[in-house]
Amino acid sequence: MKVLVIGKGGRESAVVWKLAQSSVDFEIYTAPGNPFTARYGRNVPIPENDVASLINFALDTGINLILPGGETSIALGIADEGERRGIPVLAPRRDAARLEASKIWAKSFAKKHRIPTADFEVFTEDEFEEAVEYVKGQRFPVVIKADGLAGGKGVVIARNVGEAINTLDQFMNRAKFGEASKRVVIERFLTGDEVSVFAVSDGYRWGIFAYAKDYKRLYDGGRGPNTGGMGAISPVNLDPQTQDLIEENVVRRTFEGLAKEGLRYKGFLYFGLMLTENGPFVLEYNVRLGDPETQAILPLMDYDFGRMVIGAASGNLNTDDLKPFNRYACCIVAASEGYPDNPKVGYPIEGLEEAEEMADAVFLAGVSLENGRFITSGGRVLSVVGTGKTLEEARERAYRAVERISFRGMHYRRDIGANVKGG
Ligand code: AMP
Ligand code: GLY
Repeated sequence: MKVLVIGKGGRESAVVWKLAQSSVDFEIYTAPGNPFTARYGRNVPIPENDVASLINFALDTGINLILPGGETSIALGIADEGERRGIPVLAPRRDAARLEASKIWAKSFAKKHRIPTADFEVFTEDEFEEAVEYVKGQRFPVVIKADGLAGGKGVVIARNVGEAINTLDQFMNRAKFGEASKRVVIERFLTGDEVSVFAVSDGYRWGIFAYAKDYKRLYDGGRGPNTGGMGAISPVNLDPQTQDLIEENVVRRTFEGLAKEGLRYKGFLYFGLMLTENGPFVLEYNVRLGDPETQAILPLMDYDFGRMVIGAASGNLNTDDLKPFNRYACCIVAASEGYPDNPKVGYPIEGLEEAEEMADAVFLAGVSLENGRFITSGGRVLSVVGTGKTLEEARERAYRAVERISFRGMHYRRDIGANVKGG
């Protein structure tokens, strides 16, 4: 079975690693991949946004399944293109990918289908003045979100009118994220614990397979700017009532809402939730797996991920397989100096082998191989994962291993898996 994984980050490293452990005999290709994915198959130098070349490569090579990691190729319609040309892709079509690609679409969808989400207003290109008037009448903070994809940077929590107007100006008038930020959602600020919920669907059946927590802020204690994610843990233990509310009011209503709209959803669906005193609210949808949550989740899975993926892609998902995890995982991301804005790269990485012996896995991300040496090449360089019977055990294992690794400017949070308000 030939599979093409799309992406080059820690998430894709974890996906490839897990596929290689499957009872299915996969021949793995990764586009463009990284030095870790190369250990398990072949890297193909095609960027994520070149959907035509990805599909052509898949046809020429006889690929049986395409597995996109990030949102780029999904939002560009790789599932539609795969369908048109007869290659199964485990991802939603472009119209359903609007759950992630357009916050306006996602919020309107949630409202229509009675899925709890923060109250909001939408402002389009020529409504800057109206948006300013609106924020003047709000209690602060308010949350301002660019409509389109902005690499995780399109959400601003404005603490006062001045910050709100400045953000609106940046987004709408100065097109900080191009077309993506000309239209905005302004929504109520919610408080509570955040949790990431992962579901998979084959277009007919769906199932939740993991609960995780992402540590989004750059610094310990949930301080500093938002990042793509500095670490993650899984599972997150919720009381049965909360779990029930998530399953019924959020996840079920979402899949049923999609079906009602004629958007048969195939692929992974990741719900970013806030657990408020009024129950779980959707903050965001992502039409893919999370990074770094995937690095924590996959080492815990003791059913066959390869079979799950094939089942979902072929309309034969067996949801009974999706058993809760009976161990814990802690994933620590090691980042370059200057991440997330201006990562400084190009430094050799020491201690990898030792760390790999001590951890469950060390998933490479922003790393290149030059003359046989691993060199940093991106903001999030690698993630170290430990598992254990308790979260504490998992944490200790991950931290002991990450301490063995060093590169110039390396930094990581010391509180992944600790009880941090706000993440
Ligand atoms: P999003 O990309 O929409 O998930 O937003 C990124 C982060 O911003 C979330 O993980 C939250 O930490 C925060 N956030 C988004 N929306 C809200 C909200 N309505 N209230 C409070 N925090 C929010
Ligand atoms: N961990 C956040 C994301 O994958 O979007």
